[in-house]
Amino acid sequence: MLEKLEQLGQEALTALNGLSDSKALESWHIQYVGRKGLVTEMLRRVGELSKEERPIFGKRANEIKSELELAYQARETTIKVLEMEQSFAEGAIDVTLPGRPVRRGRLHPISQTMRRIYQIWAEMGFQVYRARDVETDEYNFQLLNFPPYHPAREMQDSFYVDDRSAPNEEMVVLRTHTSPGQIRAMRDYCPQPIRVILPGMCYRAEQVTARREVQFTQVEGLAVGPGIRMTDLKGTLTSFAQRMFGEGRPTRFRASYFPFTEPSAEMDVQCIICNGQGCRTCGYSGWLEILGCGMVHPIVLRNGGYDPEKFTGFAFGMGPERISMLKHGIEDIRYFWANDLRFLEQF
Ligand code: DAH
Repeated sequence: MLEKLEQLGQEALTALNGLSDSKALESWHIQYVGRKGLVTEMLRRVGELSKEERPIFGKRANEIKSELELAYQARETTIKVLEMEQSFAEGAIDVTLPGRPVRRGRLHPISQTMRRIYQIWAEMGFQVYRARDVETDEYNFQLLNFPPYHPAREMQDSFYVDDRSAPNEEMVVLRTHTSPGQIRAMRDYCPQPIRVILPGMCYRAEQVTARREVQFTQVEGLAVGPGIRMTDLKGTLTSFAQRMFGEGRPTRFRASYFPFTEPSAEMDVQCIICNGQGCRTCGYSGWLEILGCGMVHPIVLRNGGYDPEKFTGFAFGMGPERISMLKHGIEDIRYFWANDLRFLEQF
């Protein structure tokens, strides 16, 4: 029987090498090595042999079977190439037919704006520092010089996460702004100088409107070092605006108030829609507010571990949604989270 098996193996190989189309190849496979194929059948008859012969026969039969499978695969490849060449020759494949378009993904418009912001700040030597989305009341407010019950807290209605029985400073809150990252960065870097931006998602319990969302991004910035002055803040932020909105775009600073900076300001750029002529987007003022900023309050510096007698710093916070809306003339902030492809595919 062993001899018969060897013969069958030889026969199958010879037959295989004579094949030249995939249909014949398929029948060959069924005939020899398929579930009811000749070789398989022989393997099943191993029981008819004596105890001594069985292992030898079994081993050989398996070897032959896998040799045939390998040879089959090699033949299959050869035949596929042959058939493809043939169909080219017959003109069955029209190589001039335009390809099917591949649908490409793209970055969300906010991600695009964020990346541009990172790039500009990187050019000015600012690293990205990742702080957390879930904060305590202490970091989100108190260490930033918002005392408990301070009316400024009402500027930012918060999502508190845990029950109200926790001590005030341990109350867990979704950060209402990226500013608590300032404290984390300072405590991390102290006593080294700092130049970081802190990007991320912020959350506020807002009534959702065309201008306000419960969830939005911010990019915070922080520079701390010996002898940093208000002029550094103005120069750096002006340079940022020129890179972001184009060389020569006028900017201005207006005095403002934030608990964590003193003095505080807001920066406007000349309206990029009407070039300062006055339009609906800028409320006919010719200017667009793009960020809040100021010199880091001495109390905040101290909370971060720095001696305000030796160190000063500036900070700023901007909203990529707002910047994107201005750049692209988008009138409703809700588009960013609506996930409507008709909107998203425009960017
Ligand atoms: N945290 C402020 C807000 O959410 C923005 C801000 C203003 C950040 C002034 C700053 C700053 O770092 O100096 O409205």
